[in-house]
Amino acid sequence: MTPQIASEKNRALCLMAPVVPVLVLDDAGQAAGLARALVAGGLPALEVTLRTPAALDAIREMASVPGGVVGAGTLLTPKDVEMAKAAGAQFGVSPGATDVLLDACEANDLPLLPGAATSSEAMRLLERGYTVQKFFPAEANGGVPALKAIGAPIPQVSFCPTGGVSLKNAPDYLGLSNTLCVGGSWVAPKDMIAAGDWAGITALAAEAAKLQR
Ligand code: 3PG
Repeated sequence: MTPQIASEKNRALCLMAPVVPVLVLDDAGQAAGLARALVAGGLPALEVTLRTPAALDAIREMASVPGGVVGAGTLLTPKDVEMAKAAGAQFGVSPGATDVLLDACEANDLPLLPGAATSSEAMRLLERGYTVQKFFPAEANGGVPALKAIGAPIPQVSFCPTGGVSLKNAPDYLGLSNTLCVGGSWVAPKDMIAAGDWAGITALAAEAAKLQR
C-alpha cells in the first residue's frame, strides 16, 4: 500500500468521529464488551495499543464487533506490524516513524498513522507521501500552540494529536485547521474497563462523540 493510499484511508478513519479511543487491555475477555460500548457511544475507530500481552487477542475479539474499525497502536517493529495485521488490525499507529517501520506497513498493506513531533519529522513523512500523521506526544510537545505553529508552514499535513488530550482540551485541538480528530485514553479508563462498566464507557464515548470540529 502506498503512503498516499494509507493517508487517504486514515483521513477517512479520522473523520469517522472526533475522538479515537486509545485502549490498553489487560484481559482480552473484556475486548468485545469494550468495543461494543465505545461503538454504541459513537466512537467506531478504536486503537488497541500493543503494550500488554492481551493486545493481539483483544484486536482479534474486537475485529468482529459490528460497526467498529480496529487498529493497532504502539507499532515499533516489522514483527509488530505482521502480528497486528494477522490479528485483524485495519490500521496501525506508531509513536514515531522509521524507514524500517514504514517499509513494513507499506509491504503488509497496513495503513499507518505515523507519529511526528517536530517540523522536520512531519516534513520527512510528507516527502514520503504521508499527509495524515499523529502529533505525539501532543501536550508534552507544546500542545495546541505548537501544532498550530507547525500548521502555518506545513498546511499539507493533517494530524491526530494524541498524548495528554482530554475532554477539556480536545475542543482547542479540534478547532485547529490541521487537526482531523484527537486520540485519547480518557474515554476508556482502566478502572471502568476492569469493572466492566460498559454503560459508563458508552456515556463517556457519547460525550466525546459530541465534540465539535
Ligand atoms: C498513549 O501514549 O497511551 C496515548 O498517546 C494516549 O495518551 P493519553 O493516555 O494521554 O490519552
